[in-house]
Amino acid sequence: MDVVPLSIDRVPGLEKLLAMGQPYIRLRGPSDYWMYSRLFSSTCPLAVVGDQVVGAVIAFRGQDDPAEVYVQDVMTDPGRRRHGIARSLLESVKRQANEWGCRRIHLTSEPDNRPAHATWTALGFNNVRGDWVENGVSVISDYKGKGNHRAVYEQVLPGRPR
Ligand SMILES: CC(C)(COP(=O)(O)OP(=O)(O)OC[C@H]1O[C@@H](n2cnc3c(N)ncnc32)[C@H](O)[C@@H]1OP(=O)(O)O)[C@@H](O)C(=O)NCCC(=O)NCCS
Repeated sequence: MDVVPLSIDRVPGLEKLLAMGQPYIRLRGPSDYWMYSRLFSSTCPLAVVGDQVVGAVIAFRGQDDPAEVYVQDVMTDPGRRRHGIARSLLESVKRQANEWGCRRIHLTSEPDNRPAHATWTALGFNNVRGDWVENGVSVISDYKGKGNHRAVYEQVLPGRPR
């Protein structure tokens, strides 16, 4: 398995992978993935085996606060889970964030997504204290707008943004 930045020729493979991500991953449009490959490839690493995309992270450095990197989607092929793919991809994003001197990497997931909670905490993310706790997961009410409650996770990095 190799880890490569998202490129336009890999978009069909990425879409094929993400289409398997329901209910926690929502497939976006081709022009979104084109944009990610042209503007954000250094924080959108793919895990590939030959032509097949077997894992992906879509993340972005903030413009309002360039000290932050936000991870939008993480997905591993259902047949290849628990082989360290998400770990490798998130490490790649963290390496880039550290190179930029970022101070925080953060992400959210649905409160009932147990594998996601287990993954983020295993990889050193802290589940940010929220408004209530649901099956051991702290949840922030209306985090992404009314009715969109989210579990929020963050990892503080040592950096000083450049
Ligand atoms: C969450 C997800 C991305 C994890 O990907 P993965 O490649 O299987 O994760 P890794 O193999 O790198 O796991 C790293 C560690 O996280 C923990 N972990 C991962 N999945 C777990 C699970 N189902 N149960 C318990 N712990 C888990 C383990 O500690 C694991 O290390 P170990 O296997 O050595 O014990 C994957 O389950 C997935 O694609 N889910 C569907 C999409 C989704 O919900 N994405 C998150 C919302 S954006």
